[in-house]
Amino acid sequence: MANVVEFKNYSMGFRDDDGAVSNLLDGISFSIEEGKALGVVGESGCGKSMTSLSLMRLLPDAAVVQGGEILFEGKDVLKLSDKEMQTIRGDRLSMIFQEPMTALNPVITIGSQIGECLVLHHPELSKEEVRSRVIDALDSVGISNPERRLDQYPHEFSGGMRQRVMIAMAIINHPALLIADEPTTALDVTIQAQILDIMKRLKGESGSLLMITHNLGIVAEVCEEVVVMYAGRAIERGTLAAIFDNPMHPYTRGLMASIPTMHSDKGPLPTIPGTVPTVYDFKPGCRFADRCPHCKDICTREAPQYRWVGDDHIVACWLYEGEGDGNA
Ligand SMILES: Nc1ncnc2c1ncn2[C@@H]1O[C@H](COP(=O)(O)OP(=O)(O)OP(=O)(O)O)[C@@H](O)[C@H]1O
Ligand SMILES: [Mg+2]
Repeated sequence: MANVVEFKNYSMGFRDDDGAVSNLLDGISFSIEEGKALGVVGESGCGKSMTSLSLMRLLPDAAVVQGGEILFEGKDVLKLSDKEMQTIRGDRLSMIFQEPMTALNPVITIGSQIGECLVLHHPELSKEEVRSRVIDALDSVGISNPERRLDQYPHEFSGGMRQRVMIAMAIINHPALLIADEPTTALDVTIQAQILDIMKRLKGESGSLLMITHNLGIVAEVCEEVVVMYAGRAIERGTLAAIFDNPMHPYTRGLMASIPTMHSDKGPLPTIPGTVPTVYDFKPGCRFADRCPHCKDICTREAPQYRWVGDDHIVACWLYEGEGDGNA
């Protein structure tokens, strides 16, 4: 199966007001096969959104690409012109943003806003065709009575319905890859479950999915592969079973141990002490060293290499020194 997207040793950072450049994403490598869903998990600030914004080429002004490639359908997006990127974005590649509530224009009807995404990439379509595709899109994300709904304004929609509208916009052109950045965080649990059902269905119909979330339950439900990020590094990746049943990195183990279960009768859930460092206080060595219960001398001096620890399982941790071949 071909890969829709492939991050190859990608690095980026930020330039501060004095011109000094710090590094955030460090040697990120992963790929997503056609029709598959990959989940990117990690604590707040670890670089999940910067990873997806890098692929969309929508990084903030202060961002600096420091190396590597991001192949989308075989082309390195980092080398495309702005114009070439505009033809892909919203068409073959689209994204549901982390803050959807602010992304809709309050003075334009829902139907026109969704229709705009379609017309931009398919100006040849007639008014009737656009209207009918918008109705289909609203219908596919579970909005009832779409013929009437499309002439309404965002304020006439509830939060959950606005989120569905954002999904309808992102899928109207049947993208090869849909990126969802915390698509359900701002929603209550019933609506969350409905949105997840929609995403699962769309994955099969519409292509591949890059799901960014700190909710491991969502990953378990929707994804086949997982990348665990910590402070800008992809410290472990593998199949869902590898990561959930056999987590290797002490950070991944900490994340797994902090998932509540029906049978959590052993007192409070364990937490990982400390917080993710920011780009300004990364130290040499493993970025998790300060919080790691297994920290050794070398961990504070040298960044660990990637080690294959199974057919579809790779980890960057000095605990596994000597195992695998050391290539990402
Ligand atoms: N302009 C900037 N200059 C310096 N650092 C920045 C800038 N913009 C973002 N960052 C830093 O980049 C880091 C990663 O941000 P990112 O938004 O990718 O995290 P995230 O994993 O998506 O977090 P969350 O779960 O909260 O959405 C953060 O530590 C943030 O402070
Ligand atoms: Mg984010």
